[in-house]
Formats: sequence, structure tokens, C-alpha cells
Amino acid sequence: MIVLVIGGAGYIGSHTARALKRAGHEVIIFDNLSTGYEFLAEGFELVKGDVLDASALKNVMSRTEAIMHFAAHAYVGESVTNPRKYFRNNVEGGLSLLNAAVDAGLKKIIFSSTCAVYGEPAKVPIEENTVRQPVNPYGVTKMFFEQSLEAYDRAYGIRYAALRYFNAAGADESGEIGELHAPETHLIPLTLQAAAGTGPGLQVFGSDYPTPDGTCIRDYIHVNDLASAHVKALEYLASGKESFAVNVGTGHGYSVQEVISAAEEITGKRVPRKIGPRRPGDPPALVANPAKAQALLQWKATRDLRDNVATAWKWMQRRATLVHQ
Ligand SMILES: NC(=O)c1ccc[n+]([C@@H]2O[C@H](COP(=O)([O-])OP(=O)(O)OC[C@H]3O[C@@H](n4cnc5c(N)ncnc54)[C@H](O)[C@@H]3O)[C@@H](O)[C@H]2O)c1
Repeated sequence: MIVLVIGGAGYIGSHTARALKRAGHEVIIFDNLSTGYEFLAEGFELVKGDVLDASALKNVMSRTEAIMHFAAHAYVGESVTNPRKYFRNNVEGGLSLLNAAVDAGLKKIIFSSTCAVYGEPAKVPIEENTVRQPVNPYGVTKMFFEQSLEAYDRAYGIRYAALRYFNAAGADESGEIGELHAPETHLIPLTLQAAAGTGPGLQVFGSDYPTPDGTCIRDYIHVNDLASAHVKALEYLASGKESFAVNVGTGHGYSVQEVISAAEEITGKRVPRKIGPRRPGDPPALVANPAKAQALLQWKATRDLRDNVATAWKWMQRRATLVHQ
């Protein structure tokens, strides 16, 4: 199939583009490079454009059969201080894309949703039928797009997969591509930067949560496991089946302290850290129940925390040599 990967020059999109290629699909990347990088799209046709540009989308959609939509702003804190930016890109941009897809007669869309749509769930592990109650504008924009997909499915026969990612982590095993957010806000790269002495010491937000070691627990899903879930979702929709929303996580939670210990073991270095107060809006634990994805897509995460940390570390070292070349 010819797949339009919107946001394919970013972290998760670039890994998924490679997974699609390995599975025999053709990929066209569409990206405005606002947070993405041209070198992450190397080896693919890259169309530089913005999802708000309907005519650019129209041109490229005329050559494609399915869409994967990764393009979004994705900093929770920034979405609180600058919601306008988030509603513009994630909501207006998302609708521009959906309308262009309907006009082009494209019926298959796979969307990067998030566990942030659940907000602070009453029960963990989280199942897909948990009420969606996002607690920040970022989560609201993602829920809005899920609801738009539901309406466009009913009205126009769009078939969608809403993949609710938990915490994406790790890097391609080749060491050639990986996470490159600026500023970086994700725990594993921040922990590794602290270990390497290239970043500030790690700030731990809260050590008095009702968890075994007092730090927050999250479900870290390796980016290549995420990528393979996209390929499975595409093939599921292509076989004529109905739209769906699933959690994409491992079902295992790790605490901040456990991530730090894994990083110290893998790097052989101490992670300098400061324990600070809790951050508002951080639930103690967010862990997926991944049973639905397994049943529907025959998909299961195959990598664990060690793989996440080890591949991220390999990528960080490779990046350092790239910078010094
Ligand atoms: N990283 C995570 O842990 C995580 C967790 C849950 C959900 N998500 C979602 O997954 C998706 C990808 O996240 P990521 O970590 O790879 O982020 P990223 O910033 O690395 O990738 C996003 C890509 O989209 C592009 N883009 C943004 N706005 C655009 C626009 N208007 N037009 C065209 N291109 C545009 C950016 O240039 C970038 O290449 C996002 O939708 C994010 O909300 C990420």
C-alpha cells in the first residue's frame, strides 16, 4: 500500500516509516519540519508542507491509499500556557487533514492518540472503555480528534485506528535514528543526559506517591514496538474491518527510580538527581491494559525497560559522534 506518513520526520513517525518499508509498503513523508528533522526522513520521499495547507495535502493525497497522522504539538506543559498553539495545530490542522482525506476519497487513517485522553483514571491498568477525561489542553486536542474520527466514520465511512500510546521510548536498534526532542522532556533521555553529564542533573518530581518506592510509575513502550503496532493496524483496516481505539503499551509499569537504576546499570555511571515536589496533574501510575491490541491485532510489545534504555543510550552516543564529525 502507498502510505502517507504525516509527521514522518519526527521521532515515532520516522521509526514507523522504516517499519512500513520493511513490511513492503511504499511511504511518502509529509512534514513541516517544525519539530522534525530532514535526516530522519532520509531514504524516503519527503514532501515539505503543513497540515493546515489543504492544497498541499490534496496534491500528495492523490498519490496515496492510507494515512498515518503523527503531526502534532506534544508538550503537555506548553499546552497549558499556550493552548492557542495546540488548538491551532492539533485541532484545526487535524480537521484540515480529515477534510482533505474525505475530499480525496481516502478511507483509512491511523492516528497517534495518547493515554493523556484518560486524564487521571480511577483504575489502573487502564482499559479502553475508561471514560475520557483529559486534564490538559494537549489531551483535549487528542480527544477532540478521536471524536472527529468517530463522526467522520459514521458520516463518511472513514475507517480509523486511534492508537493510544503510553510513554514512547528507546531508539532503533541500528543506532541510526532515535528521539530528538528540543527541549527534551521525556524521562529516559533526560536520565541518560544526566548520566553522561551533558544535561542538567535529573529533576525527580515527587517521592511521596502511593507507589512502592514513592516515585511515579509509567508504561514505557519501545518505539519499534509502537511502529509495528501501526503496521498491524494498517493491515487490519486494509482487510476491511471496522474502526477501533486501542492502548499501545506493555502492561508493565516502572517507577522513576527503576528507570534511574536501569540507566545507571547500563551506562555504568551515576545519575545525579534532585528530588523535588510533585508536579500538578501527574497521576501516580499510568499503565496500559494491552489485551485489546493483542486480541484485535495479534500485537504485543516484545521489548522491555532495559531495551528502551540500552537503545536510547546507543543512539545518544551515536548522536554525540555525529555532532563531533
Ligand atoms: N512521544 C511520546 O511519548 C508520545 C506519547 C503519546 C502520543 N504521542 C503522539 O505521537 C505523535 C508523534 O510524537 P513524536 O514524539 O514523534 O513527536 P515529534 O515532534 O518528534 O514528531 C511530530 C512531527 O510532526 C511534524 N509536524 C508537527 N506539526 C505539523 C504540521 N502542522 N504540519 C506538518 N508536520 C507537522 C513535526 O515537524 C515532527 O516531525 C504526536 O502526535 C504525539 O502527540 C507521542
